[in-house]
Amino acid sequence: MTKVLVTGGLGYIGSHTVVELSSAGYEVVIADNLSNSKLSVLERISKITNQTYEFYNVDCCDYSSTKEIFEKNKIDSIIHFAGLKSVSESIQKPIDYYSNNIESIITIQRLICEHNISKLIFSSSATVYGELSDPPFTEDSPTGACTNPYGWTKWMIEQMLRDFSNANNDKKVVILRYFNPVGAHDSGLIGEDPNGIPNNLFPYITGVLSGKYEKLTIYGDDYDTIDGTCIRDYIHVCDLAQGHVKALQYMQNSRAGVDVFNLGTGRGTSVKQVVDAFEKSLGHSFNYEIGPRREGDLPVAYANTLKAKEILQFCAKRSIDDMCTSSIKWQTEINEITHD
Ligand code: NAD
Ligand code: UFG
Repeated sequence: MTKVLVTGGLGYIGSHTVVELSSAGYEVVIADNLSNSKLSVLERISKITNQTYEFYNVDCCDYSSTKEIFEKNKIDSIIHFAGLKSVSESIQKPIDYYSNNIESIITIQRLICEHNISKLIFSSSATVYGELSDPPFTEDSPTGACTNPYGWTKWMIEQMLRDFSNANNDKKVVILRYFNPVGAHDSGLIGEDPNGIPNNLFPYITGVLSGKYEKLTIYGDDYDTIDGTCIRDYIHVCDLAQGHVKALQYMQNSRAGVDVFNLGTGRGTSVKQVVDAFEKSLGHSFNYEIGPRREGDLPVAYANTLKAKEILQFCAKRSIDDMCTSSIKWQTEINEITHD
């Protein structure tokens, strides 16, 4: 059976991807240093899939401990999710972000060469498009002009992977640029569980619903959009996870080199439309106010998804209502865990 190493596999997107890989028949080995996840996620994944996993509590920046995974397992491909991801924290602690995100991918590239591994999938972000082009963003839209260190780490790693591929002509690298991953697994057993006050819209809303926060502040309603609020391309995390399975299947027969794909729905949804969808799922309204714009926010960002559709045969299926309903179910589960 093909063994896939999933770094950051106990995190939000990694855990959902482990579930999808298992149901597609891949054998999965998980590495995570638990800096932004909990060991209990491993049990929860196992509960969903009815499988057990080899788990390594390692920091992927650390060459010698990460090397052990490769010595003990015949790894066929790697999906590298491990990384720090908070835009605001990256502005406060840029060196932590450059060091963790860049050193971990360097270690992975070294080990790929030493262990003759040919397939690597890297988690990039739509943030690399910055303000240089107009949406919908295609994979050929200009990148750079990032507004924060987190975005720059993704941009720099993309460049590093191109150089790596030029120097190693047997390697297949797929860069996936995620738009806005939201929602949770239908079981309610895994989902996003951010440390501290969330910056992102969905976890903040579910925090309001659980009573943790008094109200949502919508950052600006004076943009040139349908209702004045910003537009994003929200993609259900289970669809996103399936995108990784599609990418691995594609890599089975693809040529060596770097391929870049957007993973989004291709549909834009405004912040107010998200609020409406939550209210519809809940059957009642919740508390929000309009505040000033948030610095660095693009008015509109959504994906052109044609390339992923044509080449990966990937098409996100779940609706914004599915995203809200599954987030609410997951929030109920977290409340129960917290009150245990
Ligand atoms: P997450 O924080 O939930 O998951 C990342 C996991 O990696 C965590 O479990 C963390 O403990 C682990 N980790 C971090 N540094 C590590 C290291 N050095 N060694 C081993 N493990 C380490 O984040 P996520 O939302 O699941 O994101 C996964 C990847 O996708 C990240 O690279 C992120 O930048 C990227 N991404 C996320 C989003 C998003 O909105 N969630 C959007 C675009 C791209
Ligand atoms: N928003 C609010 N109130 C909040 C939180 C967010 O109104 O409390 C608004 C934002 O202004 C934005 C929209 O909701 O218009 C979405 O904001 P998020 O913070 O959820 O998502 P972003 O699009 O700003 O950022 C996300 C990821 C980043 C990634 C970026 C580009 O969090 O990691 O997409 O892909 F870099």
